[in-house]
Amino acid sequence: MDGSPDDISNLKYLLEPESVAVIGASRNPQKIGYQVLWNLIGGGFPREKIFPINPKAEEILDLKCYPSILEVPEKVDLAVIVVPAKIVPMVLKQCVEKGVKAVAIISAGFGEVGNIAAEEEIVRIAREGGMRLLGPNIVGVANTHNNMNASFCQALPFKGNIAFITQSGALAIALVGWTLLEKIGLSVLVSLGNKADVDDADLILYLRDDPKTSVITIYMEGLDDGQKFMDVASKVSSQKPIIIVKAGRSERGAKAASSHTGSLAGSDIAYTAAFKKYGVLRASNIQELFDWAMATAYMPPLKNNNVVILTNGGGAGVLATDECESSGIKLMDIPPKLAEELRKYMPPFGSVGNPIDLTGMATKEWYKGALKALLSHEDVGGVIILYCHTAITAPMEIAEGIIEAYEESNKDKPITTSFIGGSECLESQEHLRRNNIPSYPSPERAVSAMAALLERGRYLMRPPSRAPQLEVDRATAKRIIGKALEEGRSALSSIEAFQVAEAYGIPVPPLQVVKSREEVVSVARSIGFPLVAEIESPDIIHKTDVGGIVLDIENEDGALQAYDQILKNIKKNAPTAKVIGVAFRKMVEEGQEVLVGMHRDPTFGPLIAFGMGGIFVNILKDVSFRITPLTEMEAKEMISETKASKILYGYRGMEKLDINSVVDVILRVSQLAMDFKEITGIDVNPLFVYRNGCVAVDVKILLGKSEKE
Ligand code: COA
Repeated sequence: MDGSPDDISNLKYLLEPESVAVIGASRNPQKIGYQVLWNLIGGGFPREKIFPINPKAEEILDLKCYPSILEVPEKVDLAVIVVPAKIVPMVLKQCVEKGVKAVAIISAGFGEVGNIAAEEEIVRIAREGGMRLLGPNIVGVANTHNNMNASFCQALPFKGNIAFITQSGALAIALVGWTLLEKIGLSVLVSLGNKADVDDADLILYLRDDPKTSVITIYMEGLDDGQKFMDVASKVSSQKPIIIVKAGRSERGAKAASSHTGSLAGSDIAYTAAFKKYGVLRASNIQELFDWAMATAYMPPLKNNNVVILTNGGGAGVLATDECESSGIKLMDIPPKLAEELRKYMPPFGSVGNPIDLTGMATKEWYKGALKALLSHEDVGGVIILYCHTAITAPMEIAEGIIEAYEESNKDKPITTSFIGGSECLESQEHLRRNNIPSYPSPERAVSAMAALLERGRYLMRPPSRAPQLEVDRATAKRIIGKALEEGRSALSSIEAFQVAEAYGIPVPPLQVVKSREEVVSVARSIGFPLVAEIESPDIIHKTDVGGIVLDIENEDGALQAYDQILKNIKKNAPTAKVIGVAFRKMVEEGQEVLVGMHRDPTFGPLIAFGMGGIFVNILKDVSFRITPLTEMEAKEMISETKASKILYGYRGMEKLDINSVVDVILRVSQLAMDFKEITGIDVNPLFVYRNGCVAVDVKILLGKSEKE
């Protein structure tokens, strides 16, 4: 308990207080200060531990009022502040004097309206006073398990084990009604507002150890401290699922950036990559968020991607099958012995393919028997159960059969269910949910929930791996980068970029800079033909435009001619450019083009990109991304995730190319980006890949002051 921003011990007083003061409790039922008090009482928080503070009132809602928190005779754990912004600092100081450990500031009028100084002031008061501060600009905070509704939401949600943290207060209000309607139980509901002090990461870390929370869900608009979030997510997500809806997917176009990789990598891509790296599930909307929350809270992860669909209707089965295919769920082939067993639970015209169709005649016993047989078979990883309401069966009975079968199983495999039909199906859905079986009104949602369990299973079963420390010549890279920075440049020249790449073990063509005509022949000979010659000047970026490149140099005469020609062109077309010399490099044989790049994201740091070169990158945007530090496994995944990678693996009789050499380049680019914060972008594009090895044909390295510094 040191009062530092990262000290989460005082969050206990925010989420599980034993006493709460409402500073700004109002006598007027139309005011928020009245509603908060009303909610605290109505939610069932012990009345004797609620202290309304209002200098003008004696009593509100039959509770004695105190003119200031300093007059409260007992200790106060949490103060909820509902007074206008301008008096918040004053009441905060009183809270510090009183020894309050946590405050939740509902009041608006701070950073969100540009009042940064006021926000900084309240954070300073809280930190100096050893208090954690939630907000400002929030709806409040609620904990169903200690009957605390310190918010102006319409009601306390049902008790449950899903924690919901939201950056949008309005969403919290709307959502409470929705969870009540959908019978979704929450453990805590926290509105984060401006996140002046307490943020997502603090709460995730705190809730990891909350026995009443089994899954953490978040509505997020953005993060200020990506590194802190990643550190916490890496600690927590192996123990508890974290599911996030992140707004801003549709970011208009990728960020303006001067590197190719930068133009491909919008900041939303960085969020997706960071979440993926640390096992955070990213839902695309609020409904999916809670669908997945229910699945991960009730069911074990899907560890074996061998799934069976059990249905009484062909159409529902087909819909689910399509959805499985697009979500990466593998429908297993039913082994003959299992098929024989399943035949006991269906009429002769039923189907033991997958989907298993028990037909419209399916009874409770059939569902139960078939499900038990599936769950006890060693090959089966999980089961998606569908039921279409028929006139001859009662959905509640079918639901009972499913619950019994699951209860009688080892409960080590996940099931998800969908009951399709009218109000009776809704009742069965609720009954299933009350019995900890995830149930949804459509087959697609049951499949999507299973896909979330698959993603979680994959994350949990990843073998532990670390980013390798590769042998590199850091000193050379540092000297080249340092010199460019000293000269105030925002990019390395192409030769410098090649030299840095070479120092980091990225294969580049042999090259040498020639500073006088006399050296040309010996240099050309030592590199070997054919050659490329190009001007080496920090002032010339677009070399072709000024006649600064000559390709296909076949012999010594050609090399001398190229040297003369380039210097002549520069004299004419760029007379003021500083000329260092002419660089000769080996012209390499064409290979399969790929791109490896890096864009430094302001929130999460280096974002590494891999894509197939040429049209695949520019038109199809077939590119995969990861946040550094990269492990070998991640580098391999990056390659296989792109659709065009089939070409590297030897598509339809094509030669298999040297994928390991590309993995090595990805890891080396990652290490270069990690070692030099001054590098803001890298493009190794194209990288030619061959049957043996690969070569970087062009390298760009952009410099700047890192936005994270
Ligand atoms: N200590 C305690 N109470 C005090 C006080 C003090 N020093 N000084 C005044 N009060 C009392 C007032 O007398 C009043 O009670 P009353 O109605 O019985 O007279 C009560 O505190 C509230 O003060 P008031 O000045 O009437 O403010 P308000 O209720 O109109 O507005 C806020 C206060 C905080 C609700 C408002 O400033 C605000 O920020 N609204 C936006 C909230 C919001 O949207 N949050 C984000 C949601 S996403």
